[in-house]
Amino acid sequence: MKLVLLGPPGSGKGTIAEQLEQEWGWKHISAGELLREEVRQGTPIGKDIQHLIDKGNFVPDQLIVEIVKLEIGKKKDVILDGFPRTVEQAEAIKDIKINKVLFLDVPEKAVVERLSGRRVCRKGDHNYHLEYLPPRKKGICDLDGTPLARRKDDDPKAVGERFKVYHQQTEPLVAYYQKKGLLQKVDASPPPDKVYAAVRELLAAVRAKR
Ligand code: AP5
Repeated sequence: MKLVLLGPPGSGKGTIAEQLEQEWGWKHISAGELLREEVRQGTPIGKDIQHLIDKGNFVPDQLIVEIVKLEIGKKKDVILDGFPRTVEQAEAIKDIKINKVLFLDVPEKAVVERLSGRRVCRKGDHNYHLEYLPPRKKGICDLDGTPLARRKDDDPKAVGERFKVYHQQTEPLVAYYQKKGLLQKVDASPPPDKVYAAVRELLAAVRAKR
């Protein structure tokens, strides 16, 4: 299974992918997390891209394509979270058979609120929300016990830029995958457990057909 999660910043791609990984063992490949790991490790790539990520701009297509392609090759069942994010990236992985693309549809206003309350752990980038998805122990990741913090690109200025870039560069992928008959819209406005239940039901049907 090769599943693509498409949607605006904060639409819940990472949250859903984490749940699917835990329940079904599909590998969660988060393009953003792979890039943030380069930054955390202080690699030459990380040093080059940190300013782009912090400001909410995309890294070059070729770079992210190379990084993600390596990861896709490692497992049979994968969830692509935040990749492809441009038509050029989608074209660059044309040789890989995508089974389904879920488009997480949620109004921009709701998403801005989600991002302002998001907290992530420093180790694995696990996602929480102060109100909608709090950790069991305040300020601590349930999964690896590390402290939670705010992402730099969740500050309002960077969020504004991320939306601008999303509309210009990622939204065209909706029509792109619709044309290929792969796109399924999911109402991502309800609370996390409801959205996950809907996604699960949809994917159960896709799995049964494989
Ligand atoms: P990335 O980390 O992928 O950022 P993003 O796409 O902006 O997505 P987010 O991680 O912000 O949101 P999400 O949709 O995963 O939502 P989440 O589940 O966290 O990328 C970061 C940067 O890396 C990019 O800006 C770019 O610079 C670079 N990059 C990445 N991929 C690239 C590519 N392909 N090409 C070029 N550059 C690339 O949820 C958000 C919050 O809401 C959380 O607090 C969560 O707990 C909460 N929440 C989730 N679901 C719900 C719900 N149903 N109701 C209420 N709250 C909810």
